[in-house]
Amino acid sequence: MPGTCVIGLQWGDEAKGKLVDILTEHHEIVVRYQGGANAGHTVVSGGETWKLSLIPSGILRNDVSCVVTGGVVLDPASIIGEIDMLEGRGIRVAGKLRLSDRAHVVFPWHVAEDAILNGSVTGGEAIGTTGRGIGPCYRDKVGRSLALRLGDLYRPEFRQQFEHVLKKKRHLLEAARPADGPPIELDGEAIFKQYSGYAERLRDCVGDTTHLLLDAVEAGRPVLFEGAQGALLDIDHGTFPYVTSSNSSGVGVASGSGVPGRWIDRVIGVVKAYSTRVGGGPLPTEQENPTGEHLRQRGREYGTVTQRPRRCGWFDAVAARYTARLSGVDELAVMLLDVLGGLDELRICTAYEIDGRRVEQFPSHIDDLRKAVPIYETLPGWPEELTEVRQEVDLPPAARRYVDRIGELLGRPVTIISVGPDRDQTIFRNTAPATEACPPPHQQEQAPV
Ligand code: GDP
Ligand code: IMO
Ligand code: MG
Repeated sequence: MPGTCVIGLQWGDEAKGKLVDILTEHHEIVVRYQGGANAGHTVVSGGETWKLSLIPSGILRNDVSCVVTGGVVLDPASIIGEIDMLEGRGIRVAGKLRLSDRAHVVFPWHVAEDAILNGSVTGGEAIGTTGRGIGPCYRDKVGRSLALRLGDLYRPEFRQQFEHVLKKKRHLLEAARPADGPPIELDGEAIFKQYSGYAERLRDCVGDTTHLLLDAVEAGRPVLFEGAQGALLDIDHGTFPYVTSSNSSGVGVASGSGVPGRWIDRVIGVVKAYSTRVGGGPLPTEQENPTGEHLRQRGREYGTVTQRPRRCGWFDAVAARYTARLSGVDELAVMLLDVLGGLDELRICTAYEIDGRRVEQFPSHIDDLRKAVPIYETLPGWPEELTEVRQEVDLPPAARRYVDRIGELLGRPVTIISVGPDRDQTIFRNTAPATEACPPPHQQEQAPV
């Protein structure tokens, strides 16, 4: 069967972009199927760094098609900026990129609404969104009555629909804005002209991607699905309400792309060797101390999209075991292992204590997660620099032990280890197939809190 997916198992930024770029070599089509310009995926190759947001990370290779499906919320200015950046740096995009006419379009009113409502969640801590209008655009998609899809921009009724939505949005935004804040300016004529221009610019790329992908998988062509964000940010299964507005765990692949799960035979769960989170919400293993600072500095943990410092902490096996199961993960890629070098000892969270009880199952309610006190297992660190290591045998024993322990705790084999941002800084391991190597881990888990 032809489908492979790459799914982040934490809170995003697990280095999915690096992995997708590597795996593209063995695929004909790379697909982004959820999220939007909130994603920031980095690829480093031959000393050059590429930051991609909406365009699949496969675009750097020739002879590959890149598809953005209807599950994505598409900001046309953002994708045009990426196309220009890539072509300006010598990467051909024309003829390689297909955008779904079903993709919902992000308009300036979505960005304005994101800025107003990002403040707090039912009176609590701010979500800390990326401010890219993601939640409001998905809200309109689900609400239907004020939604505009990419295909609508080419219809004769576009002007009329645009005016209708604009009028309603002006009223809604006026009612929602803070009394002491400035009025929200929406210059209808300018926005209409701008979006008509974007539509013209993108015309050759736009079409029905669902049939394209179904034709491809039915013909046995290898397709790579690039998840955005991480499974703990999944709207249904993540740390709600501190999540994004799409299904960013493995469950989103079929709904976002239109390709049924039966066509996917390889799910790679991507984890950092530690935890990071950007924005609000609980991060049980967070280290607001020199260890956290070590991780932030060595891992250059600053947001790709917003440049915000990322919150850093120890690897959380309770959370990642949950998302590995949720996403149907067959095998694991452990990224940024080099960042842990130089720490005397390392910790992995293997359970939580919540209200005095030991809990091994990731809690479903945010209040329980907030109360979770990590129970750690301690492993030896290693002083060596790993960035030059290319084979597993050259890893210090403590580093190998650490990676294997992650695999054991998640019940999946670790098949890929990353020791630096560059394509070349990657170790591929020969391990037994996932089904032989991993009995399902859930039997040992306790009842939910
Ligand atoms: P994504 O959103 O999952 O694609 O991840 P990001 O690109 O937002 O963040 C991952 C960051 O880690 C990027 O700056 C990568 O260049 C960098 N990176 C990827 N793999 C490694 C690695 O093994 N070691 C180090 N030190 N950095 C890495
Ligand atoms: P990639 O694909 C890390 C986080 C935001 C915020 C929450 C909601 O690069 O891994 P949103 O703008 O989506 O409404 O913000 O989700 N977030 C990400 N964090 N990596 C991402 O993408 C993210 N996309 C959104 O910081 O906490
Ligand atoms: Mg990122």
